[in-house]
Amino acid sequence: THPIRIAPSILAANFSKLGQEVRDVVDAGADWIHLDVMDGHFVPNITFGPDVIKSLRSYTDATFDCHLMIAPADSFLEAFAKAGCDILTVHAEAGPHLHRSLQTVKALGKKAGVSLNPATPESALEYVLDSLDLILVMTVNPGFGGQKFISVMEEKIRRIKAMVGDRPIEIEVDGGIAPETAGVVTGAGANVLVAGSAIFKGGSVEAYRAAIEAIRTP
Ligand code: DX5
Ligand code: ZN
Repeated sequence: THPIRIAPSILAANFSKLGQEVRDVVDAGADWIHLDVMDGHFVPNITFGPDVIKSLRSYTDATFDCHLMIAPADSFLEAFAKAGCDILTVHAEAGPHLHRSLQTVKALGKKAGVSLNPATPESALEYVLDSLDLILVMTVNPGFGGQKFISVMEEKIRRIKAMVGDRPIEIEVDGGIAPETAGVVTGAGANVLVAGSAIFKGGSVEAYRAAIEAIRTP
């Protein structure tokens, strides 16, 4: 099974100094950098696109874990791959051709993830399991940081863990993750924990380190 990884979401970082924030959070022990891309259409908020990600790429060698909350996604996959993303995660709800989206990601030489909104059942994954490197279980409705963890998602994580079986698929959770909820999600089978506000609210490398450690070992 995979090690526990902490993936800070820069959605909660100071956008006026994103490069430094990425460097600081990696220095503080982050394993991956989680990049929340929003289009104001699939989700009711707008963030950043491939050019911002490209400009961050030189600040760290850490894995860029790109969460695409955009619809359609397919026409933008190449741009995000070229920007330096290592993992491209699309939403199962973002279009009618999830299998094709995953094939496109693979053809670009990147790791492929699928994300499920809270209301989407895990059965959406059934016929794409063998094309997946990562499953992202949303534990809030996507669009904003700082929301409350939806506790019934614990059951979904358990079911996905059972469904995945021996496959080398990372199970990631996103939304409302803090030391108080980290134990629940890792206990259910998640191994990659995204956290935005719980990490960046501290505002210093020391605070980021303490928050990352508290989430890693709740
Ligand atoms: C929500 C994003 C999350 C968000 C998490 O749409 O996908 O990554 O930044 O923020 P917190 O950890 O504050 O819930
Ligand atoms: Zn996210």
